[in-house]
Amino acid sequence: MTRLLAVTSSPAGDQSKSSALVKKITNDWKDHLPTTEITTRDLGATPPPHIDGMMIGSYFTPEEDRSDVQQAAISYSDELLDELMTADVIVIGAPMYNFNISSLLKTWIDHVARAGRAFRYTETGPEGLIKGKKVYVITASGGNYSEGHPAHAMDHQTPYLKTMLGFMGMDDVTFIHAFGVAGGEDGIRAAEEQIDNVIQAELVGHAA
Ligand SMILES: Cc1cc2nc3c(=O)[nH]c(=O)nc-3n(C[C@H](O)[C@H](O)[C@H](O)COP(=O)(O)O)c2cc1C
Repeated sequence: MTRLLAVTSSPAGDQSKSSALVKKITNDWKDHLPTTEITTRDLGATPPPHIDGMMIGSYFTPEEDRSDVQQAAISYSDELLDELMTADVIVIGAPMYNFNISSLLKTWIDHVARAGRAFRYTETGPEGLIKGKKVYVITASGGNYSEGHPAHAMDHQTPYLKTMLGFMGMDDVTFIHAFGVAGGEDGIRAAEEQIDNVIQAELVGHAA
């Protein structure tokens, strides 16, 4: 059985292009591989709280020394991390906001990128601890930032997410971009096609 975690991070609800594409990949996955167990985390519908002083204090206090208040403060972060750790496949919907990810997704990262659980420091440098995951990031942006395009260097969400996920140990990351959604449906169609190819490749992988 495959466990798939779908994280969406648009506040636009039913109007969200990235969330619709995440829905497509999860529905198609379930249709073709029915034993898949899907967990959804909709950060737009239920925004994560910003990290505050109590949470930071909890992060740096050993579990056995945490007060009840500190334990309560860290429980949301624990819940998100448990979801990540138990997933085999992670799908992340990422709207482009001001050339980067939305603050909803950034806050989710702030909660999960915790020393000791997501990464640790070793004598040879940092080591990511969330390993063996397959990650699909589905972006949606008004403009076109594809390779070779003049605006390519303005896309800060792709390199940032690659760095951040890799830092936590997730180095098998495939990006599916719906570029240029402000100018028509071509970007959405290209992303849908890429999703179809992902599902076909998964089916071949499972049959092998
Ligand atoms: C606050 C805000 C900032 C945005 N910034 C950018 C941007 O920097 N570059 C861009 O190409 N599109 C930008 N857009 C357009 C969105 O990327 C586009 O509408 C996309 O579909 C959003 O994803 P969603 O439909 O999943 O919410 C922005 C939209 C909003 C609301």
